[in-house]
Amino acid sequence: MRIKFSEKINKIIKNLALEAKNFGVKIYFVGGLARDVLMGINPCDIDILVEGNAIDFVKSLNFAQIKSQHLDFGTIKAQIEGIDIDFASTRVEIYPFPGCLPKVQKIGCNIKDDLIRRDFTINSVALEITPDLDFKIIDPYFGQKDIKERTLKVLHDKSYIDDPTRILRGLDFKLRFKGFDFSENDKKLIKNSLKTPNREHLSKDRVILTLNKLFSDKSRAEKAFCEFVDKEYYKILFDYFPASKSNIKKAFRIFTPENTAQVYVKYILQIGQNPSGEALKAQMSNSRLEIYKHFKNLPQEDICLYYALTLDKKALLYQRELKDIKLNIAGRDLLALGFSKGRIIGEILDKVLRKKLAKNSTIITFEDEIDYVRKTFIP
Ligand code: CTP
Repeated sequence: MRIKFSEKINKIIKNLALEAKNFGVKIYFVGGLARDVLMGINPCDIDILVEGNAIDFVKSLNFAQIKSQHLDFGTIKAQIEGIDIDFASTRVEIYPFPGCLPKVQKIGCNIKDDLIRRDFTINSVALEITPDLDFKIIDPYFGQKDIKERTLKVLHDKSYIDDPTRILRGLDFKLRFKGFDFSENDKKLIKNSLKTPNREHLSKDRVILTLNKLFSDKSRAEKAFCEFVDKEYYKILFDYFPASKSNIKKAFRIFTPENTAQVYVKYILQIGQNPSGEALKAQMSNSRLEIYKHFKNLPQEDICLYYALTLDKKALLYQRELKDIKLNIAGRDLLALGFSKGRIIGEILDKVLRKKLAKNSTIITFEDEIDYVRKTFIP
């Protein structure tokens, strides 16, 4: 098969294929890149799998600038003609405990043994890179058939137990690629794996990373969250999960934070660990100045999260009435009016701000503020 790359990429890949031939290794596109190409989606990043040791291969190239390498995983990042390319060695991995990060058992295995360690059949197709750029499809686990049938299928029955984040990755693919769904067998495997989740060795970092990816696209995040709750995927992390879909939806509508994923992930972790929203309420009086000062320096994501967790009306008041209020005057303006340096400056600025924050305040412009200072603080 042919792949539509730019002339520059074609040239780099062709060179790499020639070098690989001389070096005595085969090189491939795999995982997301191969899947996207087979689905007619243009690939963004270039990752190359070396059937053998990728580090030795890349180090043998005189046109590659090495950026970083991980000896334990046999991976290496290099820049070729200004383009970053990740190279990985074929490897066999094992999961010593359910949910933990996999351990590399062998670097430089054959391609088939590398493909079987992967999450879904749709990600287990390899495209062999040859100098004629006529990519040969290696598909021992029938990934092409599943791409055609839009089915998400793991490669063995223990896959979701070994790595529960694959449930979330599957959900991400399902929402990302129209018409995709888990196979009937996978639905059963997921249900079973969630019945007796083994969290003792669970890599929380990987769960958080995967959740961040799942919620990173704003157009899919709400759907992803609903499925996460309805299908009880939270059982990867918690038995009990008192999340409110309507509260978080309302919070997003009102606070419109930029980083959707951050709010969802923090919400999941907090509500799972601390089911009572009441306990999370911040201690503060009804003073508008106090409310303003409490929220002023918080990122919008944190205010949105706080509201979703607590439904505290003070966060609403801040958002709707106080958020955009700012003092126009500064200390130097008070010095120019004749006040002397010291605590008094801060105290007066605070008093002007309190006045500005009052309901239906008539102090709006710089002149209003100066006027107020003159009338109130200058005898
Ligand atoms: N992988 C896996 N299990 C995981 C994470 C990743 O088996 N928990 C494998 C998959 O085969 C995947 C490859 O590692 O194709 C690369 O992972 P990643 O870069 O995270 O995702 P892609 O599948 O490449 O997809 P995309 O970047 O398009 O989301």
